[in-house]
Parts: sequence; structure tokens; C-alpha cells
Amino acid sequence: MWDYTDKVKDHFLNPRNVGEIENPDGIGEVGSLACGDALRLSFKLDDQKRIKDAKFKTFGCASAIASSSALTEIIKGMTLEEAEKVSNQDIAGFLGGLPEEKMHCSVMGREALDAAIANYRGQKITKEEFEIVCKCFGVSDREIIKAIRENGLKTVEQVTYYTKAGGGCGHCHPKIEGLLASVREEMEKEKPPVKAEKKKLTNIQKIKLIEETLGREIVPALKSDGGDIDLIDIDGNKVYVALRGKCSFCPSSEVTLKQYVETKLKEFVSDEIEVEEVRP
Ligand code: FES
Repeated sequence: MWDYTDKVKDHFLNPRNVGEIENPDGIGEVGSLACGDALRLSFKLDDQKRIKDAKFKTFGCASAIASSSALTEIIKGMTLEEAEKVSNQDIAGFLGGLPEEKMHCSVMGREALDAAIANYRGQKITKEEFEIVCKCFGVSDREIIKAIRENGLKTVEQVTYYTKAGGGCGHCHPKIEGLLASVREEMEKEKPPVKAEKKKLTNIQKIKLIEETLGREIVPALKSDGGDIDLIDIDGNKVYVALRGKCSFCPSSEVTLKQYVETKLKEFVSDEIEVEEVRP
């Protein structure tokens, strides 16, 4: 017996928005009865192009019904641009979570939504455009790649939980392994570089570095605009300065201090530096 949340049980026992909309603006169908679950989602837009109504028909287990019901509740009132950002994680989150083995139900919901929006726009998502990786469940490389990316999947077993691919004869496992490796490599490359940790400075080193940064990065830039800056004192991470020349009566001197001087000192000295102006 699966460990379902109360919200999953509620949406399974009292599903919202069951049925099909007459003259829908968009309709999307995913899954197949042969594979154990299928979902048909239809929606209607209002004058503002927001989803006025959404209904579903599904064939599947308790979590497929609950996920479809949750999806219709989530997207009502949204524009299509907002709705296309709804992820399978949002559907599972709305339900207070799903057992990992049942996450494919939330993925099916998101796919039905993609298909319905594409249908509204006159596009068609056809599996023929993609390689079918898992023949047992008719799952394409596009679906597997999307599930790996959106859910940070790491193993073939997880791919099966989220897409069903690999849950039959197992012939597709090497291909799934290959997709996992290539997508995870791409994701690693896309990660923003981790900032090199600034090394801990002694007081003398910090003072020297502040003076150097002022002289090299900050003073020349201010002078080129007719201004200048004097270092008055340093107390821990607090740096007291006085603005000179044009900078001393500039109405945006506070912005110069915080967004230029302080940012530069944080970049070259320490993230904890705070700059304060000493006025005569
Ligand atoms: S081809 Fe994927 S499980 Fe059979």
C-alpha cells in the first residue's frame, strides 16, 4: 500500500474538474491505455486569455487521478505563459508530495498540459519527431531528457519512476544510461562557476588590500569623473571614507559609495566589508 498524503487521498476520492470541456480552446492527450495510464486534458480561455476552466479524463491509479485533479486546480486562472511554467514538481508539491515510484503521474500531467497548450497554438507534439527510447512504454528521448533535467534524476531506476521508461524488458537501460550521462554533463557545464573562496586575511593584510584596491580600482575611476576619495579609518570590516571633489556634493554619492566603492571592496577584499562616509 502506497504512503499517500491526505491531499492525494482527497483528490483521488473527490477529484475536481472531471470531464471534458465543450468546444475547448486546447486539448492534450498523453499516455495510452496499453501502458496503464492515459490522460486527456481540455481547457477554455476567458476574454483576458486566462484559463477559465480546465477538465480532465484519466485512466490510471490513485496518484494519476490526484495529479490530474491537482493540475486542473493549479492552472485555472493562469495565462498560458504562466501555465507552461508549471512543472511536475509543482503538481507533486500541490499534493504534499507523491511516492517517488509514482512521480510519473505528475510528469504525465505536465505533458498533457504541454500538449494542450501546443494544440491551442496550432502546434503538434508528435513522438515521431523524437527517438522512442523505451519501446515497452513508448517513451521518447525528449520526455526522458526533460524529466532528468527538471527533477535532477541520477539513476535508471529514477527515470523509470518518473517516466516509466525502463520498467519493462530492460532493453532500453543502456540508452537511458547514455542520456543520463550526457544530460548530467550538460547540466554540470551550465552550473555557474563556484566563486573561489576568499582567503582569511589578517588585519594588516586587510588594510593593505583595502589601500591597494582603492588606489588601483576606485580612485582612478572617481578622478576621471572629477571626484576623489580618502581613506579615513578601518575598524574591523567597516571602512570609513570621505568623498572629495565633485563626489563630495554629488546627490548620488550614497549610490557611489554602496554600489561602486563597497562592491569593489567586497570583490577584492572581503564580502563582509561595509563602507561608510565620514562627513566633515
Ligand atoms: S524497451 Fe524499455 S523497458 Fe522494454
